[in-house]
Amino acid sequence: MLSEKVKDLLNAQVNAEFYSAYLYLDFSNYYKDEGLDGYSNWYYIQAQEERDHAMLFIQYLQQNGEKVTLEAIDKPDKKFSSFKDPLEAGAEHERHVTALIHNIYAAAYEEKDFRTMQFLDWFVKEQAEEEDNADDNVKKYELFGSDMRSLYELDSELATRVYAAPSLTLD
Ligand code: FEO
Repeated sequence: MLSEKVKDLLNAQVNAEFYSAYLYLDFSNYYKDEGLDGYSNWYYIQAQEERDHAMLFIQYLQQNGEKVTLEAIDKPDKKFSSFKDPLEAGAEHERHVTALIHNIYAAAYEEKDFRTMQFLDWFVKEQAEEEDNADDNVKKYELFGSDMRSLYELDSELATRVYAAPSLTLD
């Protein structure tokens, strides 16, 4: 049995993760339009990962006998004036998501809800990776993005990213 507060925060996280997927699809579309198919691919896969995160929160709620309420997903409204803009917005967004996860963790801790804490452990670790990857994208672009040949190589490297299902499974 989850507390009302923890349940509501977990339910809100379903929306936050779907929003992340929507945001990264928007980034993917932007790069596609700009002819950077590698960056587009990277964010397309990132969007798939975010959808997976949302599904995990749904499954966890349902495993605990809770009803899931799907809310409307906000429209991504970022405007980009350079190739670097989505990368920085992505890094900032991941820090925001980390804060959301930590907030749920803190609520679970307060309630001595060890089951939810254990479930969230995977996300705490995942967020460290997500922030690291997002920062890496910014750094690499800062180093190599201004040179067209290097940008081409960076884009080609990002084109090799393939989708992998999350290592966390709930059944
Ligand atoms: Fe689901 Fe990128 O956090």
